Amino acid sequence: MKSRVFSGARPTGRQHLGNYLGAIQNYVKLQDQYDCVYCIVDIHALTTLDNTRELQKNIHEMALDWLAAGIDPKKSIMFVQSHVPEVCELHTILSMVTPLSWLLRVPTFKEKVKQNPGNVNYGLVGYPVLMTSDITLYKADVVPVGEDQLPHLELAREIVRRFNDHFGETLPEPKAQMTAFPMVVGLDGKSKMSKSLNNHIELAMTEEETLKRVMTSVTDPARQFRKDPGHPEVCPIYALHKYFNPLQQENVAATCRTAERGCVDCKKAMAAEINEALKPFRERRAELAAKPKYIDDVLNDGAVRASVIARQTIKEVKQKMGLL
Ligand code: AMP
Ligand code: TRP
Repeated sequence: MKSRVFSGARPTGRQHLGNYLGAIQNYVKLQDQYDCVYCIVDIHALTTLDNTRELQKNIHEMALDWLAAGIDPKKSIMFVQSHVPEVCELHTILSMVTPLSWLLRVPTFKEKVKQNPGNVNYGLVGYPVLMTSDITLYKADVVPVGEDQLPHLELAREIVRRFNDHFGETLPEPKAQMTAFPMVVGLDGKSKMSKSLNNHIELAMTEEETLKRVMTSVTDPARQFRKDPGHPEVCPIYALHKYFNPLQQENVAATCRTAERGCVDCKKAMAAEINEALKPFRERRAELAAKPKYIDDVLNDGAVRASVIARQTIKEVKQKMGLL
């Protein structure tokens, strides 16, 4: 039997270059080797309760991005988390084998508490347990994610080990799989590219929007004048050259260091490279956007296929625990 891949992402709307380079790229690649399940995790989005009015629209936008990027519903299952409610049942079951102390030391949890101390709900603490339920409900071995998800994956492995120790070998221990770009820096040059920090470039932007956005990026802060030599290793635009123009990468670095290349020209070249690379994606996306019923059909069909696997796992888990 082929190993299974599972990944999920919260429906935050249109996907950005960080999502693509850190995760979606691998979703697409892994489809040829593995049995893949990709999930739009709408229940996870409820933990912060800031975008529920936009939820259906965001799910649709994200599905469009994934399909346009190359997720093939004939090869892979693509579905919405809440359409297969067994995940909630498994979440409750796994919460019984998860010590609260493990959850309280998760870095993303601590960060969220700091950001929003007035909304520390029970679901937020349990976020990694729900994520573990996603992965184990489909008995996935491989989980393509960006670097920020590694602590969650480590916890998932610990929960699985504990479950298996108590009730017998049932769930596989999932392993993270990262791309060559596991942490894409945002245009502020400080933090990871993320929609909430508004330092991102959306895949679905127009060519003009992309250029405008790239021009807002910081570069090397030490480079105040055109003649100042640059330090490409600290520049978020240089980091993108590595992906979009690997053959020219050394040349870009060398001419930046000698100040032959200025930041404005470098950004314009970068925007042109992004626009060229994303052209086929943007064309496919526009075609798909004209067929909303097709997107609904893909997600409905995905939920039906995912349910078959989910029911089997739940039955097995319940038998092992003495609930059946
Ligand atoms: P999110 O949009 O935060 O739900 O993330 C969806 C997927 O994209 C996860 O696998 C993340 O690890 C990955 N991801 C998000 N932002 C970045 C980034 N800036 N660099 C690399 N991967 C990322
Ligand atoms: N926590 C992930 C994120 O914020 C989303 C996610 C939920 C996920 N369930 C998952 C990722 C299962 C991988 C596997 O991006």
